[in-house]
Amino acid sequence: MIAIDNLQKIYRMGDVEVRALDGITLNIEKGEFLGIMGASGSGKTTLLHMLGLLDVPTYGTITIDGIDISLLDDYEKTMFRLYKLGYVFQDYALVPDLTVMENVSIPAMLRQDRTDEQTKKDSLEILERIGLHDRRDHLPRELSGGQQQRVSIARSIVNKPDILFADEPCANLDTENSRIVLDLFKEINEEMQQTIVMVSHEDWHKDYFHRIVQLRDGKVISDAMH
Ligand SMILES: Nc1ncnc2c1ncn2[C@@H]1O[C@H](COP(=O)(O)OP(=O)(O)O)[C@@H](O)[C@H]1O
Ligand SMILES: [Mg+2]
Repeated sequence: MIAIDNLQKIYRMGDVEVRALDGITLNIEKGEFLGIMGASGSGKTTLLHMLGLLDVPTYGTITIDGIDISLLDDYEKTMFRLYKLGYVFQDYALVPDLTVMENVSIPAMLRQDRTDEQTKKDSLEILERIGLHDRRDHLPRELSGGQQQRVSIARSIVNKPDILFADEPCANLDTENSRIVLDLFKEINEEMQQTIVMVSHEDWHKDYFHRIVQLRDGKVISDAMH
């Protein structure tokens, strides 16, 4: 589903060159719950940004569903993200002035092919699914961190994306809330055959992943089924 070939990302700052990604070659299969692990600075976020079409590599190719994404123009990339990809960030990235329901509806509203009724139905369904149906008219700040992250997960899957990307989604959560969030990912992966690529540096998260890719200094140092 995702084929990554000799991916490199080099940041140049004055005379200094940082090889954030240094030749990553990897295939990710449909339905996988993949963990990308490694110390801080190993290139995890950079890799996720490249795969999620949020930034462009310096060298190498990414093919998603047979499409070389470097060949897409900006408009096509925006559409690709909207129709095929979902994102969960460590700081939830909810819009503070919009209600839970409105936040979850955003990606669906941006699509041309959804009626208002369909958007409403999908959003309510997904809120029920994550157990925050009764909080739909609340603002994000009225929820706990764990609840906010569940809302952000609901938003990320409302369009039923082919691939869900999550960058350290539990970084700001305690263990109990981290478990709730990870269990939710696991259910989404199992029930919807949702492909999930999740970045983490917490060792105990390993139990949730089918497969773990370890990065160090922008390189894959191990790739193993769990
Ligand atoms: N925008 C940037 N400009 C310069 N260097 C960057 C930038 N983003 C990341 N880096 C560098 O690239 C390396 C990998 O960073 P990152 O992908 O954020 O690692 P991780 O997510 O594993 O902590 C680090 O050395 C970081 O300092
Ligand atoms: Mg990071």
